Amino acid sequence: MDADSENILETNEEFRAFMRSVFARKRAEPSDNIFGELVRSGRLTDQELVATAVTLLQAAHAAIARTLALSVYMLLKERERWNVLRTEPGSIGTIVEELLRYAIAGQLSVRMALEDVELGGAVIKGVETVAISFSAANRDPAVFAEPDRVDLAREEAGRHLTFSFGIHQCLGQHFARLELQIALSRLAQRFPNLELAVPTEDIPWHTDRDIYAPDRLPVTW
Ligand code: HEM
Repeated sequence: MDADSENILETNEEFRAFMRSVFARKRAEPSDNIFGELVRSGRLTDQELVATAVTLLQAAHAAIARTLALSVYMLLKERERWNVLRTEPGSIGTIVEELLRYAIAGQLSVRMALEDVELGGAVIKGVETVAISFSAANRDPAVFAEPDRVDLAREEAGRHLTFSFGIHQCLGQHFARLELQIALSRLAQRFPNLELAVPTEDIPWHTDRDIYAPDRLPVTW
């Protein structure tokens, strides 16, 4: 195990211990927020409560923070894109869908086939695990015309699989869409002259495992 993995496990355990203390407090002093409600329902074990909290916090915080940084990078990289955001506020829904299609902060998910399945001429055997690339699906030329081009007016942009598909597709996707639409619109209103503060090649990227997003995005206005 390398130092990074050790660090990840330690931090993970620290975070879980913190969440256990939060739930213990919620038991003693009931509250009406989502964690308070989960405790009150009495339907989840302690382990399930912590797992739910970790999923919600990681999904809600990390995925949005990375997607926002990636979206702002994509928009500032080509000035006309930023200008579309600035001058066509009514198109924010389509703009966000196209950004979600084209540049994805979390690239992969996994599924396990419960029985043999034939898909696109290949057989996936029962209990084999399959890694799914959302980026590949989002650049499928059978679904998206000129898939490698960013088109902020693309009509079919919303057919992307960035929030996955099936019963485990992203539970927070409507909230995520709204957050991105509000954050990007407000940013363009508040800082119309926003630009990257460093050349694109100097932006530090997070690219390990399935994550693809700027680590930091220096901007100026
Ligand atoms: C741009 C932001 C986001 C992206 C790209 C994203 C993407 C995803 C993806 C790809 C999955 C995995 C689905 C699978 O394996 O099939 C997922 C699961 C999930 N997401 Fe999101 N997500 C985002 C924001 C959020 C937010 C804001 C919340 C909560 C408020 C959230 C809650 C969840 C939950 C609870 C799951 C697990 C669903 C399940 O396993 O049944 N996500 N998300």
